[in-house]
Amino acid sequence: LKNIVFTNQVATDLEIFIQTKQYSKVAVLTDENTYLYCYPRLLSFLSYPYSIQIQSGEAHKNLQTCEVIWRKMTDFQMDRKSLLINLGGGVIGDMGGFCAATYKRGIDFVQIPTTLLSMVDASVGGKLGIDFQGLKNHIGVFQEPALVLIDTHFLATLAPEELRSGFAEVIKHCLIADEQKWHQLLKNPTLKADLDLVKHSVAIKSKIVEEDPLEKGLRKVLNFGHTIGHAIESLYLPTSSKLLHGEAIAIGMICESFISLKRNLISQEDLDEITAFVKKIYPDLPIFEKDFESIIQLTLQDKKNEHQQIQCTLLARIGKAIFNQTISPAEIHESLYFYIQHGEDAT
Ligand SMILES: NC(=O)c1ccc[n+]([C@@H]2O[C@H](COP(=O)([O-])OP(=O)(O)OC[C@H]3O[C@@H](n4cnc5c(N)ncnc54)[C@H](O)[C@@H]3O)[C@@H](O)[C@H]2O)c1
Ligand SMILES: [Zn+2]
Repeated sequence: LKNIVFTNQVATDLEIFIQTKQYSKVAVLTDENTYLYCYPRLLSFLSYPYSIQIQSGEAHKNLQTCEVIWRKMTDFQMDRKSLLINLGGGVIGDMGGFCAATYKRGIDFVQIPTTLLSMVDASVGGKLGIDFQGLKNHIGVFQEPALVLIDTHFLATLAPEELRSGFAEVIKHCLIADEQKWHQLLKNPTLKADLDLVKHSVAIKSKIVEEDPLEKGLRKVLNFGHTIGHAIESLYLPTSSKLLHGEAIAIGMICESFISLKRNLISQEDLDEITAFVKKIYPDLPIFEKDFESIIQLTLQDKKNEHQQIQCTLLARIGKAIFNQTISPAEIHESLYFYIQHGEDAT
């Protein structure tokens, strides 16, 4: 995508962009963490931006927070030639983008992702939105930002578990689209978030999104790991063993790889390699047999299902995914059992 720029001098690039476009007003949206850790990097260059700060966390990705943002934009008298800069992770990007895309029927916005997940996934592809009545990303629009500025220096202050969570999407991109890169990762099974790997992930997602921006077909390959992963994420969300998104997707990728093996799509060796690698990075993610039924029930409610059938993306082979594969509750059960069993002999 043409609007994505990698930089190590984010403030300078932003300043040049703003001057070129001659925006009438500029506001920066942050949460308390990105205000503290990331905002200072912009402030040295930006001349008097308006600041909008909200509370961090998925729990605030809702309509009430949008009202706060729209009200601030109105108070600042931002007109249609104004710019909103979303400085933060996927929550800030999705919600700030949604607020900008709907304010006065749409003003420009810039995404400056500050988490690994938002760099390699959320800031790419124009999906914006908020949660509604407990349903994730239930209200939203597609709208491309005027610019995405990716500066991996921001990752320095990110909590290790947040970095690890974002890494699941990096692994996913290799598995669905780049066999060679996957084998490179396998040689050295550690958590890496270097610039090369971020660029690689962004290139893969951009290419897929360019071919199918509105997710009519091909874009669904990006849902690998997410049918079972989302169900696990939703189940454990209200509990103390709360899993981060990427952690749930890591489990989902093992389960959906297992189903791919059962369909004779990938080999036993492929499955063993995927399982060993993912378990090495995420050794400590428990799910419980007593929860299997609830997980299966949740997959039945997935947004992507059609005609009451569970639609899943599977691996056709390493480096290639196939979407719209109908999977059965029995297969999901078996795959969850595989995940648990493997956990026992790995530890
Ligand atoms: N639009 C899409 O295509 C897309 C894709 C994937 C995920 N998402 C969305 O992204 C959201 C998750 O994004 P996320 O994982 O970035 O979570 P997040 O935005 O909640 O950020 C995680 C935590 O890290 C903090 N933080 C952010 N940057 C920091 C930094 N540089 N240093 C220190 N702390 C920092 C935040 O304050 C927050 O507490 C979800 O709402 C999900 O739905 C959207
Ligand atoms: Zn994801």
